[in-house]
Amino acid sequence: MELKGKVAVVTGAGRGIGRAVALLMAEAGARVVVNDLGGAVSGEGEAKEPADQVVEEIKKAGGEAVANYDSVAAMQGAERIIQTAMDNYKKIDILVNNAGIVRDRMIFNMTEEEWDVVLAVHLKGHFACTKFATIYMRQQKSGRIINVASDASRGETGCANYSAAKAGIIGLTYAVARDMDRYGVTCNAIAPLALTRMAKDVQASAESSQKSGKPISKNVINVFSEPSEIAPAVLFLASDQAADITGQVVGIGGGKITIWAQPGPERYFYSDSPLSTERINELFNTTLGMGKNLKLNPIYY
Ligand SMILES: NC(=O)c1ccc[n+]([C@@H]2O[C@H](COP(=O)([O-])OP(=O)(O)OC[C@H]3O[C@@H](n4cnc5c(N)ncnc54)[C@H](O)[C@@H]3O)[C@@H](O)[C@H]2O)c1
Repeated sequence: MELKGKVAVVTGAGRGIGRAVALLMAEAGARVVVNDLGGAVSGEGEAKEPADQVVEEIKKAGGEAVANYDSVAAMQGAERIIQTAMDNYKKIDILVNNAGIVRDRMIFNMTEEEWDVVLAVHLKGHFACTKFATIYMRQQKSGRIINVASDASRGETGCANYSAAKAGIIGLTYAVARDMDRYGVTCNAIAPLALTRMAKDVQASAESSQKSGKPISKNVINVFSEPSEIAPAVLFLASDQAADITGQVVGIGGGKITIWAQPGPERYFYSDSPLSTERINELFNTTLGMGKNLKLNPIYY
């Protein structure tokens, strides 16, 4: 899959999945803006080295890349990230919204700051970079946006902030796909499972829960792949071959690729008159809820 002549912006590309995507896209011929704030997995701190190292790796392999160290969570930062592509390469064909952090906590212990910062990096970060990229993509009448969602969007224990942000990213993906369809721009999301520093924390806490006999909502052990195994799916969605794929969520990792169902009503009951509470109760016991699991479903990867 060739990306010759294309310009890609990959956020959070200094490590993990973003790094693998930036390297693969550069290998495929794209000129790449490698954005990374360079902080800890919790979002604290900053460093230029992660982005610089990836740019160096790309250049050593004969590719073209430029670093940017702004935070996706600030409107001005996001504008500068996209402007880096315009200043250096005069266009932007591909945006991969990948930067992310975690601040896990049970909902009753979660602080306002833990909520705000996770929503800011993931959901606002996706919005901000997408807003500035689509200004140019709309004029070009072409473009590819690949968002990074998560299986946690289906509701994960101990990370209401992260789950809500990732579910928001899926809603954003659907809406941007609709907004940009008329301009020849696609917008899809991936739900990856990759052995990065972020997932190592998830896996370690699952393993310790399992050892101490605590119930875990599902088996999160041994489902992760190397980041290099995630990148080909992103390259595919960014390619000319994926021109007719938009508004989709693609799961990738753990030795498989999936395409997600679109959310929406599953059962209908039409009524000519307003439904009373008693009638609704009856419907739940008969047609609407009959034979349906009305409790939490386990998350299957
Ligand atoms: N690893 C998994 O299994 C998994 C599963 C589902 C979703 N994800 C998502 O994949 C994406 C990449 O995560 P990863 O696993 O590679 O983790 P990672 O920690 O290795 O990489 C994330 C990168 O984003 C950068 N970053 C964080 N905040 C930033 C900001 N405000 N601006 C710019 N850069 C910032 C970090 O410095 C880091 O280099 C994240 O959105 C994450 O939520 C990962």
